[in-house]
Amino acid sequence: MQARNLIDLEDISKEDLDEIIHLAGMIKANPSIFTDACHGKIMATLFYEPSTRTQMSFQTAMLRLGGQIIGFDNPSNASVSKGESLKDTIRVVSGYADVIVMRNPVEGSALAASLYSKSPIINAGDGGHLHPTQTLTDLVTLSYEKGTLEGLTIGLCGDMKNGRTVHSLIKTLSKYKGNRFIMISTPQLQMPEYVIDVLKESGCEYSFSDSLEKSIADLDVLYMTRIQQERFASREEYEAQKGVYVLDEQKMQLAKPDLVVLHPLPRVDEITVGVDDDPRAKYFAQAEYGMYARMALIIMMLTNRKGTLPPTVHSSDTRCCKNPRCVTNTEAYVPHLFYENGGKAVCKFCDSLLDE
Ligand code: NCD
Repeated sequence: MQARNLIDLEDISKEDLDEIIHLAGMIKANPSIFTDACHGKIMATLFYEPSTRTQMSFQTAMLRLGGQIIGFDNPSNASVSKGESLKDTIRVVSGYADVIVMRNPVEGSALAASLYSKSPIINAGDGGHLHPTQTLTDLVTLSYEKGTLEGLTIGLCGDMKNGRTVHSLIKTLSKYKGNRFIMISTPQLQMPEYVIDVLKESGCEYSFSDSLEKSIADLDVLYMTRIQQERFASREEYEAQKGVYVLDEQKMQLAKPDLVVLHPLPRVDEITVGVDDDPRAKYFAQAEYGMYARMALIIMMLTNRKGTLPPTVHSSDTRCCKNPRCVTNTEAYVPHLFYENGGKAVCKFCDSLLDE
């Protein structure tokens, strides 16, 4: 695999993505062939934010490949609680582990970590920004449960603003031919501008809806999401959004017989338990596919371990990203880097526009 790190699925070529999907299917069919694939290798899981599936599926993936795991899932037990910078933690851990999987509430933290790491960094979620390995999970699930990644009408419902899974998913699925997106949310929780820009550039058809009932009959895939309580400024704002979209058995009756319902989980109240027994509900299968997807990813990433520090990145740019949740504002040493999009400067770490 060409890419050293997985920060955004865009780091991975379409060919490598196809290979990961294929390999995940092979591992699922013949797990015993892969039991020693990562023998002697160590993976560190650094989870600064809660996680069940992502952390445990990564850990299980490595154990099933014959590798070993180190790490923490509660930053209050790690040196960050003593004031250690991300850079120092990563420099140290990358001397121990062959690959680092990190989840962190700060947007752009995975990209920042990759600047100081001797080992590949896998982004397991950077705040409300991106979650590429969930997208890998989603692609593997769709490939095997739907049989294609093209020509699909995909409804995404819930928290489009703060849901990192849907940001990564749209960025990737918009590269496949003929996909159409319907984003179902309240006006307050609409998709960030940079994701809409990706859709515009891709030429894919897309629309916005405020009603799941009205949209569901058109869909081949329905991707439900949790309202991301932890990203709201106040409890009141969260309360006003929660419970607006609920997928229940009645709404499922309006849907196509071959609809695939996905959800990255955890679910709160956006899908009633009555839907779980519907054969179109694939979210528990999706969680299992996630383990195979991560096994395939780890195998491919570890064939590429460089073991050296990347060249130091300097920046003399005096402009500052305005997003308070961006790593350039929480870790002072991170270089300020921007790219141009449509004549506007965009932060390379969190993708927010410089002048909003
Ligand atoms: C998601 C996440 O953490 O972004 N969960 C996951 O990784 N499976 C979705 C969520 O928390 O709502």
